[in-house]
Amino acid sequence: MSDIIEVIKNRRSVREYKDEQIPQEEMEFIIDCARYAPSGFNMQPWSFLVIKNKEALKKISEGGKKSMIPMLEPMKNASQKVKDFLVFLKTKGTDMFYNAPVLVIVLGNKNAPTVDFDCSMAAQNMMLAAHSRGIGSCWVGGVLPALMDEKLLKELGAPQGYKAVAPLIFGYPKGETQMPEKIEPEINWLN
Ligand SMILES: Cc1cc2nc3c(=O)[nH]c(=O)nc-3n(C[C@H](O)[C@H](O)[C@H](O)COP(=O)(O)O)c2cc1C
Repeated sequence: MSDIIEVIKNRRSVREYKDEQIPQEEMEFIIDCARYAPSGFNMQPWSFLVIKNKEALKKISEGGKKSMIPMLEPMKNASQKVKDFLVFLKTKGTDMFYNAPVLVIVLGNKNAPTVDFDCSMAAQNMMLAAHSRGIGSCWVGGVLPALMDEKLLKELGAPQGYKAVAPLIFGYPKGETQMPEKIEPEINWLN
């Protein structure tokens, strides 16, 4: 087993992938690690939608771009990163999933009181487990507005009563990803 601290510190959001599918047993391992996450009242309110189908991936990515562009447009002067992301979204042919071979949408039971926290915990377990096996990942929150569409979720095979919380892509990284700046947080100690 990899050293947990090494895995936590070296996991990166990967945005360039090899054109190579992840074996089924590796995906099963990653999803299995999700269920060990803590959850409010131990409700484990998650469900997983694993999408490899290229047409479905394209449909979600295009839907994501369509809903993100008008949302970000009024904020474009707030940061250069927002501006750059808008250019990326508007460039024809760009894929919000960076051509990753698989998307796992962590779905959460709408009736669970802490569903967003629970599913985010499960998602982090998955990204760390993937990294420990040499598999890259990235949480693509940009497609979430598109996944609010209940009709689309149903079409993709989501169970009734569940919403999308964490859209995660996985794949074998092409090259190395530099660590972005990690800021020292303010810590106030009350001893
Ligand atoms: C809730 C959430 C939403 C995110 N959405 C996106 C996204 O839409 N596209 C993207 O490329 N990265 C996305 N990311 C990845 C972040 O940009 C990334 O975690 C951050 O830049 C820090 O880099 P690191 O993960 O390599 O430490 C998202 C991350 C989180 C936690």
